[in-house]
Amino acid sequence: MQQATTNGTQFETPAEINVETLVHDDKIHASLYTDPHIFEQELEKIFYRVWVFVGHDSEVPEPGDYVTRQIGRQPVLMVRDKAGAVSVFLNRCAHRGTLVCPAESGNARAFTCPYHGWTYDLSGQLTGVPFPGAYGPDFNKGDHHLPRVARCDSYRGFVFASLSPEGPSLAEHLGIASRLIDRACDLSPEGELDLSAGWVKHRYMSNWKMIPENDTDGYHLGFVHRSVLKSAGSQYQLFIGEESNNKGLLRDWGNGHTEIEFSTGYKQPFEWFGGAPDKYAAYLAQLEHSCGKAEADRRVFEGPPHALIFPNLFLAEMNIALFYPLDAEESIQWHTPMFLKGVPELNTRLLRQSEAAMGPASFLLPEDITIASRNQAGLHARQPEWLDLSRGRNREYVDEQGRIVAHFTDEVTNRAFWKHYRTLMAQV
Ligand code: FES
Ligand SMILES: [Fe+2]
Repeated sequence: MQQATTNGTQFETPAEINVETLVHDDKIHASLYTDPHIFEQELEKIFYRVWVFVGHDSEVPEPGDYVTRQIGRQPVLMVRDKAGAVSVFLNRCAHRGTLVCPAESGNARAFTCPYHGWTYDLSGQLTGVPFPGAYGPDFNKGDHHLPRVARCDSYRGFVFASLSPEGPSLAEHLGIASRLIDRACDLSPEGELDLSAGWVKHRYMSNWKMIPENDTDGYHLGFVHRSVLKSAGSQYQLFIGEESNNKGLLRDWGNGHTEIEFSTGYKQPFEWFGGAPDKYAAYLAQLEHSCGKAEADRRVFEGPPHALIFPNLFLAEMNIALFYPLDAEESIQWHTPMFLKGVPELNTRLLRQSEAAMGPASFLLPEDITIASRNQAGLHARQPEWLDLSRGRNREYVDEQGRIVAHFTDEVTNRAFWKHYRTLMAQV
């Protein structure tokens, strides 16, 4: 393990390290992105404790519908039972540990382990054991159910799980950042999202933390995405050139949740959707019907959030993304278009836009993936040891809602991520 030293020129390899000492208010140590021992601590202190985004209600609309996901390295199964409740189980047979459900998604009346045929119902109870006579009279099926995650809760259809029985509630974890989820859902005339279009997966040859950092990093927009921003008319166009050209903001919402606010630079409704409000008249009429004209006008001007819900949910404007750590230098991100319930014609446009912006033949996301791998490769050079995160500290401020705010090219969101990371990693 690499240990920072006071003179900044040597590396040591102590058996134990307090990871929080590698995170300062304005700089972080490079080993945080490369050290496999630190990665293992992150699994224990972050992914196996905090609320992790697992999936969305709309992915499992009918009883028996399921999807399989991961929390850290642990496989989980999100399923809707006969009564309509959504549960998250560890995807592990109670017999000898095989993945009970190897499929990514589907519908099942029961789950049968492929190894020796133990069968579980939709509420995780063991209902069938082949050749049961070989077990003694004290064998009780009730003792061998699918293990549930310690806590499962949802907010407006977003299902989260925590593998720790203790800790803040989901409401406490989200805090005021629940308003970012509201902002997305409230674009639907029915107030609900539909994330059933399927997921595209991208492998990152980088540490997982580069994904949330980059998701709300405004500084890179005019460089990594310069060519696409210059050629495509979009709300990002103002992010090329002088920093004073645009009025975008960054916000620290607390608990590691961060945001780039684009709408402070918008001049007309639907700029988040390429402008041309007349194209969306039918949608606007439906939204007005549901919430009134003034509120509908406000929502379509402001548009969707561009925000990170710590640690692994990215509200990516008209897409939703989630990501998993694989090891210290490899991660995977999934994304799907953010369909709005009640407006299928609009969703067709959203699908095309998602393909163009985020898909493997697009620019935006592949550019981020490429720069992440270069970022990771560069960090194998051992000098300098520390990465600077001080940009904009001299001009950030706290707004009336208690959020730390700064210009879109500043590093307030990076600092917000690491501040919460340090708090979590300092826990015993
Ligand atoms: S491991 Fe599942 S039935 Fe044996
Ligand atoms: Fe980017």
